[in-house]
Amino acid sequence: MSELAMRGGAPTRTEPYPTWPVHDQRDVDAVAAVVKSGRWGGYPYPGPHSAEFARRFPELQGGGHAVLMANGTVTMEVALRAAAVGWGDEVIVPAYTFQATAVAPLAAGAIPVIVDIDPQTYCIDPQKIEAAITPRTRAIIPVHLGAQMADMDAIMAIAEKHNLIVIEDAAHAHGAKWRGRGAGTIGHFGSFSLQSSKILTTGEGGVLLCRTPELAARATSIIDCGRPHDEAEQVFTLGANYRMTELQAALGNVAIERFPEQARQREAMAAYLEESLSEIPGVRLLKRDMRHTTRSFYRYIFAVQPEVFGADHDLVCAALSAEGIPCWAGYEAMHHYDLFQPALSRLAVPCAFPERFQFDRMHLPEAERACQREAVWLDECIFRAGRRGVDDAVAAIRKIQAHAVDLRHDEHCSPD
Ligand SMILES: Cc1ncc(COP(=O)(O)O)c(C=O)c1O
Repeated sequence: MSELAMRGGAPTRTEPYPTWPVHDQRDVDAVAAVVKSGRWGGYPYPGPHSAEFARRFPELQGGGHAVLMANGTVTMEVALRAAAVGWGDEVIVPAYTFQATAVAPLAAGAIPVIVDIDPQTYCIDPQKIEAAITPRTRAIIPVHLGAQMADMDAIMAIAEKHNLIVIEDAAHAHGAKWRGRGAGTIGHFGSFSLQSSKILTTGEGGVLLCRTPELAARATSIIDCGRPHDEAEQVFTLGANYRMTELQAALGNVAIERFPEQARQREAMAAYLEESLSEIPGVRLLKRDMRHTTRSFYRYIFAVQPEVFGADHDLVCAALSAEGIPCWAGYEAMHHYDLFQPALSRLAVPCAFPERFQFDRMHLPEAERACQREAVWLDECIFRAGRRGVDDAVAAIRKIQAHAVDLRHDEHCSPD
């Protein structure tokens, strides 16, 4: 086996993987039609393209009432506000996720309570949720991370027992299903990001799926500068302009046509990947929960066991990138984000509850292990390059494992 690319050897793959987002004449025509119509923005809400996208997205996901927004962060803030969660309330979020999951409660005036993850799935651990509930807890935001889904059976049971609102952060889970029910349709709300890296994208954008038309009407008022959207109750509310534009919605209507075939391809190639990935020493696949009946793949996450593999995830990712395989070592643990380090951030801590903002003193061992040592996120583009794309990724991981001793040697000898 040749030398690692990081040490001057030939990379496993020189051909670039397919880029994202994919586009063709349909996208150009859709945008051109909006430009020519003169109705570019999101007011009055919904415009014709938004109305169509708001009808088609719940069809794809299998339920809910869609409200279209500027991104997949405000979707969660709006969901909290539509459910009257706000000042001083506590919202439980997982320690392994993008910062938006914790920022949305802060933007709504609530306090994120960060809890540890299940090491088998890297999603929030339901037992840790129970332990974090206080009389001030109002909501839970489970995140369906990478290609996994949080244990929605356990989470909904806890929510029912404690009368809590559930907002599924499904930013990574377009098309995913749990026991045949779409991600984002099981809780009271499902939040989707359509930002450019996401597997259904409008460049920027977000969709909030609401369980009832009443919640959707409240959310629509909040994103439409507080205008009443509830036919029965013509009341104004505190709102701002968080609307999606017609240009974005038009792109969404094209993207949604392509989505089912892309999802089938990713699923088939992920199964093919797993056949060989699991045989590499020191590679641990995350748990395949049979209740997660349709998987979708924003990123494919696996764990390296550094003692067996011979290197930790940072080294593996650096070596994989050099081999031509797009990958990433993933997010930091939420309590380690700079935002939550008093010395590094301008986060204003409400003087009423300083003790609930001591994130820098937390210890969440499972999230820390995943974020500091184990997780490798493979880009979904490897699945769009067919079997050859997957074979190259596996060959590169095998090669790195076989040469892990060289990586460790280089690390110890580096001048830093
Ligand atoms: C898990 C998760 N939640 C929320 C978001 C926020 O989405 P947006 O960037 O559209 O605000 C993202 C990503 O970008 C995400 O990865």
